[in-house]
Amino acid sequence: MVKRKKHFYKITNESDLLITPAEDFAIAYKWKRKETFGYKKIVLELACGKGEYTVGLAPHFPDTLFIGIDIKWDRFSRGIMKAKEEWLQNVRFIRGIIQHLDKRFACHEIDEIRIVHPDPRPKQSDERRRLTYPRFLQMYEQLLVLGGTVRLKTDAHALFDYSVESFKLEGRENVSLTKDLHNSSLLDDHFSIMTDYEKMAIDKWVSICYGVWKK
Ligand SMILES: C[S@@+](CC[C@H](N)C(=O)[O-])C[C@H]1O[C@@H](n2cnc3c(N)ncnc32)[C@H](O)[C@@H]1O
Repeated sequence: MVKRKKHFYKITNESDLLITPAEDFAIAYKWKRKETFGYKKIVLELACGKGEYTVGLAPHFPDTLFIGIDIKWDRFSRGIMKAKEEWLQNVRFIRGIIQHLDKRFACHEIDEIRIVHPDPRPKQSDERRRLTYPRFLQMYEQLLVLGGTVRLKTDAHALFDYSVESFKLEGRENVSLTKDLHNSSLLDDHFSIMTDYEKMAIDKWVSICYGVWKK
């Protein structure tokens, strides 16, 4: 492992912003997460990468706890450093895979799930790994409060079309949808936050898709 990567893993591993499995798996704690931290809502950013959304949204909603999760946890060390620099209290991160979320959160514990530029997984053989594959949507349904939302933002138009169908199949109500976010009033939902993937897409003149679905 290169020295730089090791450094980023260390930052994450030693951070008090990391939610450990021991904390999650303690049922008493799990059910009282909002109460324990004193927040009204919990927003989960799946496959958060560097955690731009988790850290970027947190100052706008001080009553909400923002949690980013990613399997490559060296990446969100950047988010941890930024949260520390800005003295953000309402930010946490989880090292782990999305497939295990239902073991780390209680039913109806989450108010909103944000999926930002997930891996597009274009191969048919990878369909089950797409974060909007019906099995994932069923798990999100279990985790979300009634009226909770899933927001998906992606430059991968094929994945977006697939996801629209997937949400429809699962009977989710579509609240908003655009295939050209930067020429839409829905851009206000994003507080000017853009990840590196989005910047790269825009440089290539690829428009950004965005949709919101309600439980
Ligand atoms: C294309 S990157 C996007 C990262 C970030 N959302 C952004 O826009 O910069 C996809 C991310 O998903 C994470 N990822 C993919 N599958 C995952 C899974 N099953 N569980 C947790 N993280 C996953 C990868 O580690 C990677 O950081």
